[in-house]
Amino acid sequence: MTMRAILLQKYGSENDLTFEQVDKPDPADDEVLVRVHASSVNDWELGIIEGKPYFMRVFLGFFKPKIKIMGTEVAGVVEAVGKDVRKFKVGANVYGDLCENKFGAYADYVCTKENGIGHKPTNLSFDQSAAVPHAGLLALQSLRDIADFKAGQTLLINGAGGGVGCLGIQLAKMHKNVRVTGVDSTEKLEHMALLSFDEVIDYTKQDFTELGKQYDVILDTKSTRSPSDIAKALKPDGIYVTVGGDMRRVFQIAFLSRFVRNKENRKFRVLGLKPNNGLDHLTGLVEGGKVIPAIDSRYPLEQTPLAIRRFKQASHKGKIIISVEAVSLPLNDDE
Ligand SMILES: NC(=O)c1ccc[n+]([C@@H]2O[C@H](COP(=O)([O-])OP(=O)(O)OC[C@H]3O[C@@H](n4cnc5c(N)ncnc54)[C@H](OP(=O)(O)O)[C@@H]3O)[C@@H](O)[C@H]2O)c1
Repeated sequence: MTMRAILLQKYGSENDLTFEQVDKPDPADDEVLVRVHASSVNDWELGIIEGKPYFMRVFLGFFKPKIKIMGTEVAGVVEAVGKDVRKFKVGANVYGDLCENKFGAYADYVCTKENGIGHKPTNLSFDQSAAVPHAGLLALQSLRDIADFKAGQTLLINGAGGGVGCLGIQLAKMHKNVRVTGVDSTEKLEHMALLSFDEVIDYTKQDFTELGKQYDVILDTKSTRSPSDIAKALKPDGIYVTVGGDMRRVFQIAFLSRFVRNKENRKFRVLGLKPNNGLDHLTGLVEGGKVIPAIDSRYPLEQTPLAIRRFKQASHKGKIIISVEAVSLPLNDDE
């Protein structure tokens, strides 16, 4: 049997993606076959298409991509299970992050080990669910597991209008008496104010490290500043956590910040995402109405290149969804 899939045969741009019929995969004994209803666009997809940063080609393939079918986040229905699978039954609604399970959600079906998925929130559609696991766990693991963000504290999110920021603000606001500041570009600020950021800063007009304000926690999705600049915006004993962005800065933060003289015990950390670690907890928060994903736009599977282009243009507010099951959808602005 065959299925529809978006294929990447060589490094390049979204124009190198092709929409094709390929063989439907069979699950191994320890795998689950998921009928994909929705996926989304993340930094991973752009990195795989471009083969960048170049050092990632050690994992992605030196001259051509080893990953032929991308798609990090998945939401769908279990169609079949291998004989060793215990946690999932045929017909279960599932979602998750496939980055440790060879990706593959830009297709009608994908196989994954059990650790690639969890049970989908009952109150969200498949499209909404595909917006949660990757960005949601980047935010949750940063704020809860590394920064231990709590009631009464102040938080600044740099790059706050994207996937991590839109979920991070909601996780932060679950604590009492917190103030959250978001930094992003002019066009994102109105949307961020709707998400209940207490203050928004336009990075094209102001530099948050030069405003004389200090925060208990800084969560960064872009890593645009040096550790010494960030220290100016961090309270004594405060903690800075970056999830990614400018890799030169990320390395600087990971390796050099520990040598910076720091009498006031400011801490600098880089999050190494543990995919799906905490997913059931996140599902509970979603089902309790505490976390609602923000959707920027939806594209049917065959229009995945347009979705990637929108992500590259960086004007999205929330997540860009690939609706794999969809037959006809409202058109997006750039179609
Ligand atoms: N740690 C890990 O293990 C791991 C794993 C996977 C991914 N990641 C990383 O996680 C991050 C994902 O974040 P995300 O999904 O929220 O990304 P996103 O949706 O692309 O959002 C990033 C936001 O930052 C804004 N921005 C751009 N330049 C900025 C600047 N100079 N100052 C402040 N804001 C700026 C962007 O808006 P404009 O472009 O309009 O300005 C955008 O709204 C990426 O950095 C990715 O590499 C980490």
